Amino acid sequence: MTIEVRELAVPAAYDDGTEEWATFAEMIGVRNAVIADRWDGDTTHAITPREAFGTASSQVDERLVYLGGWLDGRLVARGYVELSRREALHIAGVDVLVLPDARRRGVGTAVWRAIEGILDADGRTTVQAWVDHRPADGPVLEAPTGFGSVPLDAPEVRFLAGLGFHLEQVERMSELRLGDAIEQLERLRADALPHARGYAIRTWTGRTPPELLEQLAVLHQRMSTDAPAAGLDHEEEAWDAGRVERIEEIEERRGRDMLRAVAIHEATGQLVAFTTLVVASPDRPVYQHDTLVHGEHRGRRLGMLVKVANLLALAERVPHGARVMTWNAEENRPMLGVNESLGFRAIGYGGAWQLVRGGTP
Ligand SMILES: CC(C)(COP(=O)(O)OP(=O)(O)OC[C@H]1O[C@@H](n2cnc3c(N)ncnc32)[C@H](O)[C@@H]1OP(=O)(O)O)[C@@H](O)C(=O)NCCC(=O)NCCS
Repeated sequence: MTIEVRELAVPAAYDDGTEEWATFAEMIGVRNAVIADRWDGDTTHAITPREAFGTASSQVDERLVYLGGWLDGRLVARGYVELSRREALHIAGVDVLVLPDARRRGVGTAVWRAIEGILDADGRTTVQAWVDHRPADGPVLEAPTGFGSVPLDAPEVRFLAGLGFHLEQVERMSELRLGDAIEQLERLRADALPHARGYAIRTWTGRTPPELLEQLAVLHQRMSTDAPAAGLDHEEEAWDAGRVERIEEIEERRGRDMLRAVAIHEATGQLVAFTTLVVASPDRPVYQHDTLVHGEHRGRRLGMLVKVANLLALAERVPHGARVMTWNAEENRPMLGVNESLGFRAIGYGGAWQLVRGGTP
């Protein structure tokens, strides 16, 4: 049995017929097979090579490293390392995936060892990993926050714990069936509007209007400190208009649409709340990204109103109904409260893990 792990080159262009492209596309296939296995054969979480290339080819704000793991000459594993360039220069995000039929042969460990070399070379001492699980019976590992747990006997839990990672936080993964929710959304909007006099709600698809870019950057920056992070090390992110434009450009390259809803304080013209949905294609789940209400404007149902506005905009776009997915910290009661009343229901749990290298085991 031979195991080989090496870093993959990011192809110079999309589907350019090179060997680099073929291996990159094969690596995405491995990723998709592992995720489909996790979700009981549901392939709608698969990403296309175009989406993956859109991510890989835009490395201004973070450096992304991809690794392949071969068992007896067959590509069976993918490693992924995310190295922020603007802030948190001691932190890295990692992911290791091994095809189900190639597990327990040391491939995952070999990929991790190769990742360690990258972390050493880049001076990253804190490593974080996120793993989703379907709800399962049996023993659990409780989050140190006191909110949520993950299945103790899951291979990923055993693997990460064995490497010295600690579970820091559990996120609830929830789904909304939009087709069933429209009447409820209209009702929630009507209930919330009287609480939010003096604010205007605005929605758009694609690029943010230029006059709102700077203000949206300020809200993105606040998101990096205001969302509950439990024991996960983090630093305030440095956002400006250019960084907002770059994430929108990346979604365009991936072939995905971004739907935004914002609240504007009419007296000052200030942008005080935003939420974002990302749509890949009508038959795929829609992903809820960040939602934030500025601290000074909370308690006026603006979080509810921007979310309802965006979901109703989505319903117009995908009239036959969409599945919307969201991840929220299990201790984030205000956000869970909004999502539960919108009709989101738990379908899984994500563990957020951290390893401080050279720290106490
Ligand atoms: C987690 C994962 C990457 C492990 O890959 P792997 O190639 O099986 O890992 P290894 O063979 O190197 O296993 C290393 C150790 O992890 C632990 N482990 C892995 N799978 C296990 C399982 N099913 N049950 C118990 N322990 C397990 C064991 O301690 C194992 O060592 P051992 O085989 O000597 O007992 C693989 O299960 C996977 O791809 N899961 C889905 C993807 C995912 O969620 N990855 C998240 C990690 S960032």
